[in-house]
Amino acid sequence: MTATGTATARAFPNIALVKYWGKRDESLMLPAAGSLSLTLDAFATTTAVTLDARAAADRFELNGEEQGGDRLNRVARFLDLVRERAGSAARAIVRSRNEAPTGAGLASSASGFAALATAASAAYGLPSDPASLSRLARRGSGSAARSIVPGVAVWHAGDGDETSFAEPVEAPDMRMAIVTVDERQKAVSSREAMRLTALTSPFYGAWVSSTERSLEAMLEACRDGDFTRIGRITESHALRLHAVIQSADPPVRYLSPTSIAVFDAVVRLRDRGVEAYATADAGPNVCVIARPADADGVAAALREFGRVRVVGPGSGAELIPDGGAAA
Ligand code: PMV
Repeated sequence: MTATGTATARAFPNIALVKYWGKRDESLMLPAAGSLSLTLDAFATTTAVTLDARAAADRFELNGEEQGGDRLNRVARFLDLVRERAGSAARAIVRSRNEAPTGAGLASSASGFAALATAASAAYGLPSDPASLSRLARRGSGSAARSIVPGVAVWHAGDGDETSFAEPVEAPDMRMAIVTVDERQKAVSSREAMRLTALTSPFYGAWVSSTERSLEAMLEACRDGDFTRIGRITESHALRLHAVIQSADPPVRYLSPTSIAVFDAVVRLRDRGVEAYATADAGPNVCVIARPADADGVAAALREFGRVRVVGPGSGAELIPDGGAAA
């Protein structure tokens, strides 16, 4: 690939139906088990990468604000990896715009590193096939590997760097009602809480092996186009995730009383014959999947708990041809 020196890419967050929680290898960001997600059609991140051969350091602007500290370091470390592969010493200016509240459990790190991997690969001249981009995005944030892929994606745990990437999966059409219970930044990052869970939870081994089984069952349900089974696996797996996180020492709890109330309301919807199933990432917001025809009714029933937005399957990470102005 030839280096373009500047490139802009857009990527969407994804919400896992079978979650990634725990690493087999921290430096290569290899997950303890595979996972499966829905890439959304909302809350995009648009990122422009412009090389600057004369600059002494990388710069990172997020939503128009110059970043320092951990956020800048994470981007700079990721760019070090890109530079090492590209044989380049050039620093870059990264300008990123997030349509979702950063750090509130809406996976802005997934859309962020998927967009950054795609734009940086073009700017520095690295391979741009989806598997390579997914492997690279994984190094920034594990879940970003899945945001390279449109719609439903399976991220293979793999047995090393080469084999741990995400691919599309055929699945029935579905919608997701995102209930924003709280937009504040989460108190414990997923990276930190994952490490703590793996080190201290007495249930961690069972979590990993049950995730492997959930993924197998989920892939089968997707192949069969069986929405009910997809939903059941999604909800029970999400509750297992939050159970294992709460079993860490010291415990971490991401769900708030309102999050639990949403899970309960979803059970009541099912009692009334509406098929809806809830999940939640490392934050208090709850995502509820439903068949397309039921989505608006599900959203209406959940409005009392917070802002609700209905989203559907979105596209994978893409370069934006005249994107210089977009970011
Ligand atoms: O990739 P990270 O570090 O943002 O971790 C993602 C963790 C969860 O969102 C809770 C689960 C998942 O599979 O996306």
